[in-house]
Amino acid sequence: MSSLFAKEKNEDISAISQNIYENINTQKNCQVWAIGGGKGGVGKSLVTANISLCLALMGYRVVAIDLDLGGANLHTCLGVPIPEKTLSDYLSKKVLSLEELKTTTMVNNLSVISGAQDDVGIANLKQLHKTKILNKLHELQADFVLLDLGAGTSFNTLDFFISSDKGILTALPEPTSIENTYRFIKSFFYRKLKMAEDLLEIGPLIDQAMNTKMGEENTPAELLNKIMEINPIAGQKLKREIDSLCPNLILNQVRTQADVDIGFSMKIICKKYFGLNIDYVGYLDYDSAVWQSVKKRRPLLMEFPNSPLVGNFDRIVHRLLDIS
Ligand SMILES: Nc1ncnc2c1ncn2[C@@H]1O[C@H](COP(=O)(O)OP(=O)(O)OP(=O)(O)O)[C@@H](O)[C@H]1O
Ligand SMILES: [Mg+2]
Repeated sequence: MSSLFAKEKNEDISAISQNIYENINTQKNCQVWAIGGGKGGVGKSLVTANISLCLALMGYRVVAIDLDLGGANLHTCLGVPIPEKTLSDYLSKKVLSLEELKTTTMVNNLSVISGAQDDVGIANLKQLHKTKILNKLHELQADFVLLDLGAGTSFNTLDFFISSDKGILTALPEPTSIENTYRFIKSFFYRKLKMAEDLLEIGPLIDQAMNTKMGEENTPAELLNKIMEINPIAGQKLKREIDSLCPNLILNQVRTQADVDIGFSMKIICKKYFGLNIDYVGYLDYDSAVWQSVKKRRPLLMEFPNSPLVGNFDRIVHRLLDIS
């Protein structure tokens, strides 16, 4: 087993997977979209804030939640000062519902819930606290709840990503960010398969497949074919698990057509290696308006309505909503 996944065995995966399936099966008021990606500084907060704004301006009720615990700054991208109440108050039971944590923004139907301002860090969030948040997200009075997951591939981050209705990956068109994005995909793919492993007893095959490198034989995609041959029922079940993942990819800070095209290459590589369908939902141009809006602590789309990113976000949101 590679060191990347070395701690995996210590966790009670079946309890987590049961919780996640229960969470998915509870009655939903709203859709949860999670924004993640392996690397820091790739635009996750920019994407979360401005997709939230677009949805709110379209008339949906939106709550943006900062789960970048320890490094919370989503409120700044939405033009709001540090909120008085944060997730820490909920986890320590100072407030009893997520609803009470909402801070209003300049757009009527958009509110923000801020992450903990202490040094919790999402990696250290206790299982109990993660479950508590996961179970309550769908009860928020909203049409959409967007989660800014922050950087990294901790189990907690992966579980929020996996249990959301839509997972959105943000990456830059540069080698380090692309590598980190594949690492993030590999991590959540593996975690999802480990959840299925309890149901299918195919653990050793999964470990073997996940330890192969790109270009080698016995890839996760080939693993699926192998399981289909040995045990078609288990294979079909596994295929359904993999198909249900379908993450969405956004490339940020693109400058050339070659940058834009990297998204299509990533889509092909993920299909070939993981057997995973990625929806490349669009790109965001590099624009100095982004850091200027951050400096002014104002939402980009409101402060710079002529930025090319307005059109970029509009296309991305329509694609995510599946409307043309
Ligand atoms: N499209 C863009 N054009 C120009 N600059 C950008 C663009 N996107 C992001 N940036 C710059 O990158 C910075 C980081 O963006 P952002 O805070 O959204 O990333 P992040 O992934 O949330 O980072 P972290 O992992 O630290 O939370 C922005 O403050 C801005 O200066
Ligand atoms: Mg951020």
